[in-house]
Amino acid sequence: MRPAELTTKIFLDSGDPGETRQCLDILGFLDGQTTNPSLIAKNPDVAARKAKGQAFGAKELWDFYRTVVREISGLIPQGSVSVEVYADKDTGKDKLMAQAHDCYAWIPNAHVKLPTSREGLLAAHEAVGQGMRVNMTLCFTQSQAAAVYAATAGGKPGQVFVSPFVGRLDDLGQNGMDLIANILRMYRAGDGHVSVLTASVRTMEHFLTALALGSDIITSPLSVLKEWGRAGRPMPGPDYAFSAKNLAPIGYEKVGLGGKLDDYDLNHELTVKGMAKFSADWNALLGN
Ligand code: E4P
Repeated sequence: MRPAELTTKIFLDSGDPGETRQCLDILGFLDGQTTNPSLIAKNPDVAARKAKGQAFGAKELWDFYRTVVREISGLIPQGSVSVEVYADKDTGKDKLMAQAHDCYAWIPNAHVKLPTSREGLLAAHEAVGQGMRVNMTLCFTQSQAAAVYAATAGGKPGQVFVSPFVGRLDDLGQNGMDLIANILRMYRAGDGHVSVLTASVRTMEHFLTALALGSDIITSPLSVLKEWGRAGRPMPGPDYAFSAKNLAPIGYEKVGLGGKLDDYDLNHELTVKGMAKFSADWNALLGN
């Protein structure tokens, strides 16, 4: 069951409803689930098809994603399920919005995942204005997180998530946990309409540090949630500290929350690489 002092929402990061069931068995609760094209590519049914050399047609793959998402949604009807649209470097706002409208209607508890790129932020502005819930993915800087806040101004609490990717920053030799701390600190000046969702969690240490920092939401692979569950769902004490080892610190920047989109630096190499990898993993499932 959920520890009494746990205020952070716990999500599973997976494209496999079988893992949702395992997680519910181990933890006894789950507040949501995040999916993405790379995770869908790892779904066991997809893996089985790949092993047989059977590709998907484009519509067939999108329909498969819908089936998976509906199964997950049925297992956690009170939670949130993030569904990611296809976005490569050429995908414009209108194409993002067309997909967003489609997949938002699949289930009653969807958050549509859009990239934290210029086009993704334009789409988020429109989507939030239409009352849709969004999860802004591939966030690697405070400036991008501030742009998410500004682009979705007027949103209601719970309507907008921003997903800073901790593990991928660690891979670059930077302390991704610092970004979580910095965004939480920056958002304290705001109205609370954007929830910080710690993503790209690789270890129990990431997980416990995100809890200690007070991240609104954490999404974790099943391996980490299993480890936490089997350890008795420990909560970090007041003196819990992340061991950054050789990772370079990411300093806090003063960034305003009330700017226009063009006021913010939206560039980060990992946002570009992340979109390229998600779209490549999706395209690899399609026949030519
Ligand atoms: C979740 O929303 C993210 O897509 C996911 O956490 C990314 O994790 P990764 O960096 O391990 O691929």
